[in-house]
Amino acid sequence: MPYMIWDKSLSIGHDAIDAEHRILLKCVNDLHDAMDERSDALIANVFDTLAQYTVNHFGREEELMQNTDYPDATHHANEHTLLVDILEEHRKKYFNGEEGKEEILHFLKLWLVGHIKGCDLKLGEHLKICQMTREAPKEGLAMEETAAGPKRHQEIEKIGGR
Ligand SMILES: [Fe+2]
Ligand SMILES: [Fe+2]
Repeated sequence: MPYMIWDKSLSIGHDAIDAEHRILLKCVNDLHDAMDERSDALIANVFDTLAQYTVNHFGREEELMQNTDYPDATHHANEHTLLVDILEEHRKKYFNGEEGKEEILHFLKLWLVGHIKGCDLKLGEHLKICQMTREAPKEGLAMEETAAGPKRHQEIEKIGGR
């Protein structure tokens, strides 16, 4: 049985981000398996993958926040920086023998789930609203304030000016 199991409570309602979170969960599970095999080379390798994927994932979330004018972007990005630093600290502790397998896996579980159910869930709500606002003009024409609004009005003007 995998160490971490995905369930609905971890979904933030954004398919691309959810898919990336599943990959992060898999990285933690891979680390668990590598630790079971007691292979330092494999453990180091999985740790590298986890750290690299985390940085890339955070970068993609930050880009999404920027592109959608997310009001809480600075706080969220600061938490990302902190999470990367903490991950590095724990990795060092593990390889220095200051932290055991159970401790580091427990830490990783809290590290990941805590951020997903906190900052990321809030971001998911914001992205859902952005998506609804973008899709709304398809159902009605009175949406001048939306991103799709001006285009819609240009189209109407073009039709009206025939
Ligand atoms: Fe995040
Ligand atoms: Fe995330």
